[in-house]
Amino acid sequence: MSHQLLKGKKGIIFGALDEKSIAWKTALKCYEEGAQIVLTNAPVALRMGEINKLAEACGNAPVIGADVTNMDDLKNLFEKSMEHFGGKVDFVLHSIGMSLNVRKGKHYTELNYEWNTKTLDISAMSLHRVLRTAWDMDAINEWGSVVALTYIAAQRVFPDYNEMADAKSLLESITRSFGYHYAVKNKVRVNTISQSPTKTTAGSGVKGFDGFINYAEKMSPLGNATAEDCANYIAVMFSDLTRYVTMQNLFHDGGFSFTGVTAEVIEQMEK
Ligand SMILES: NC(=O)c1ccc[n+]([C@@H]2O[C@H](COP(=O)([O-])OP(=O)(O)OC[C@H]3O[C@@H](n4cnc5c(N)ncnc54)[C@H](O)[C@@H]3O)[C@@H](O)[C@H]2O)c1
Repeated sequence: MSHQLLKGKKGIIFGALDEKSIAWKTALKCYEEGAQIVLTNAPVALRMGEINKLAEACGNAPVIGADVTNMDDLKNLFEKSMEHFGGKVDFVLHSIGMSLNVRKGKHYTELNYEWNTKTLDISAMSLHRVLRTAWDMDAINEWGSVVALTYIAAQRVFPDYNEMADAKSLLESITRSFGYHYAVKNKVRVNTISQSPTKTTAGSGVKGFDGFINYAEKMSPLGNATAEDCANYIAVMFSDLTRYVTMQNLFHDGGFSFTGVTAEVIEQMEK
């Protein structure tokens, strides 16, 4: 059901790879809520062609390639988006994550530092790059909203999350630091949403993901939050109903983050 929460708003959505992606569901939700959108992903991801289906479902949204580690690509993305919209944007979703050390099976204690630098650039510094590009081009309207996706491994140890834990800590720190400056300059809001484990391409890359998602399900009083529910929350964060929320890390995890133990987990341990 649409509430037209985003009627008249315009935004850029990074990271829709396939229909499991959180960004994919978010694009559909924002469109349903009345927004106009531009879709973007790394050129290599666009070659898969999947995103064209999403573009069609979102009123023939333009698809503009951008490697999020490349400042020229980002400048081109914002330029073309503003041209398309005939003005500035109201929201940006950063839904990007990639770990080279995880992908190549390196243990946290044996990180390859070149890969690690790349991981931090793609998964965390990229938020700074996006915000800086928008800042330099004055591309976001007052009360605009930027959301990036994160995971609770930024606060607590989940050993197999590996170097992505450090990447998410940095991402959350950039959210606070840039969020301060952008609020003062232009009333632009920047927040992270810390999502439950979700079966997507990026999520499933984590070692032992199936066991892990089941554990989180049992440790969350409401159960794991789905990608669709995450999209709903993001749409609210893009709306005018949350204008004074900024620089926050917002848990969207069915209560996992504040639960010490659940009856279900105790039962399991007694077996
Ligand atoms: N799936 C989970 O369990 C989970 C839980 C919490 C947070 N998150 C976060 O949600 C976000 C979205 O991930 P997802 O689970 O939807 O997986 P996904 O694999 O569908 O999305 C990750 C996206 O990052 C994009 N990307 C990678 N390198 C890029 C680059 N250089 N330039 C531009 N884009 C690039 C990929 O093309 C892909 O679209 C990530 O930040 C992820 O860490 C996921």
